[in-house]
Amino acid sequence: MDIHVSGQPALEADADHLLIFATKDDDLLERGALRRLNDALDGGLTPLVEAGELTGAVNQTVVIHTFGKTTAPRVVIAGLGPAEQLGLDEYRNAAATGARKARSLSTGTLAIEVDGEQCDLGMAEIAGAIAEGLDLGLYRFDRHRTPKQTPNDLTRVSLHSDDVAAAEAGIAEGRSLAGAANFARDLANEPSNLLTPTELAGRAEAWAGEHGVEIEIMDEAAAAELGMGSFLGVAKGSHQPAKFLILRHRGGADEPGLGYCGKGITFDTGGISIKPAANMEAMKQDMSGAAAVVASMGAIADLKLPINVTALAPCTENMPGGNAIKPGDLLTAMNGATIEVINTDAEGRLVLADALSYANHLGLSPLIDVATLTGAVAVALGDVATGVMANDDGLAAEVIEAGKRAGEKFWQLPMFDEYDEQIRSQVADVKNTGGRLAGAITAAKFLARFAGDTPWAHLDMAGTDDAAKTRGTQVKGASGVPVRSLVRFAAARAEASA
Ligand code: BES
Ligand code: MN
Ligand code: ZN
Repeated sequence: MDIHVSGQPALEADADHLLIFATKDDDLLERGALRRLNDALDGGLTPLVEAGELTGAVNQTVVIHTFGKTTAPRVVIAGLGPAEQLGLDEYRNAAATGARKARSLSTGTLAIEVDGEQCDLGMAEIAGAIAEGLDLGLYRFDRHRTPKQTPNDLTRVSLHSDDVAAAEAGIAEGRSLAGAANFARDLANEPSNLLTPTELAGRAEAWAGEHGVEIEIMDEAAAAELGMGSFLGVAKGSHQPAKFLILRHRGGADEPGLGYCGKGITFDTGGISIKPAANMEAMKQDMSGAAAVVASMGAIADLKLPINVTALAPCTENMPGGNAIKPGDLLTAMNGATIEVINTDAEGRLVLADALSYANHLGLSPLIDVATLTGAVAVALGDVATGVMANDDGLAAEVIEAGKRAGEKFWQLPMFDEYDEQIRSQVADVKNTGGRLAGAITAAKFLARFAGDTPWAHLDMAGTDDAAKTRGTQVKGASGVPVRSLVRFAAARAEASA
């Protein structure tokens, strides 16, 4: 889909659909594009407002046929919600919802009126948010469906703005962010027989090539050489060779830079501590953390962020093969720590133990790991917020702040010393489960041992990796969380060090 900017008013655009945004207030017809549309329709919108059919509420779309009074035969009006609460995410969601509505009606072109009259955001920001919302909201995963899910397509979109240069700059950024999130969605939605660790490595390599990111793919022998006994322990049950991905963006000074680690379990059966059958298919998405860190590197490179960032992704299946690790087994991680495996289904922390150890070996700082780590975090925060646990509250606050700009929600959970007792082992330095209570936190406590003294934040996205329904920028299926926050975090760090 092509998105371009035009200085011509959208009401005069030659398009199949027009998209206009409405804020929710009593005189919504008195301002901006909606006023101009109402004038063009000789006041035709007034009865709709009086009848309460057109209010500008969030998620509302109203379709108007204009019978020759505008160049486009049809107008979609999408609600932004109350003007006082208008921010970038409202634009993202309204663009997503409005464009999906237009697409549901027919294939064709869409002209969007972008006026900054409703709020004090800049044109680059608004146009960027709209483009980001369009690419996120129009996402579909239909590559394996014959025929395709919805035959309609939006082929060309024009954004009509009085500041073409600013709008163009914003659109490029918005599309990079959404493109990265959509790449992560494609990886996470892909069935695990098609997305093995080897295939994931291949797709990461192609992505890196397209975006000018360096990539190194470590095989099991190289990981063994480094002493990654914890990662390789998980890989033992599978016939698929494990891969450890390393992606580098060099944009900054001569220092190691940020380290992003992502859990890359291409399928989690639970291993010998096997999972029940119900919903096990969702475990094809247990590599969402790896997908997120790999994907974020594409946008970080597109935006030419003046900072060094390294993404590490330990990728393997977790299978109950004849050679699989068993409860009670002992593993030694790269940092020398010994681990008693109580439950082979707590495998994410095992692969991340070596990723964090390796990140420290490379001198990366700060570290952020991203993982579908515990069902417990979903019990605590649902599918709304990603859990943040950190050894540095300032870093946690920066992640939460990056999330606000991206439109992704995070919530911090505590890391009190008392929780350490739950993962004490009789036979090893640490055990890999901490019992039923505070499961998200004890998992983070396990990881903290491998982050060591390096400032580190852990993002548990087991509740947010998947969207249960389509709404705004979310499309049912893999969510692409927290790709855009990782990019915004790197951008904020780059700006702070400039
Ligand atoms: N991948 C799962 C966590 C998960 C659960 C992600 C549901 C998405 C949805 C993880 O590897 C796991 O199995 N965690 C266990 C840990 C337990 C054995 C300590 C869990 O949460 O039950
Ligand atoms: Mn598991
Ligand atoms: Zn898992």
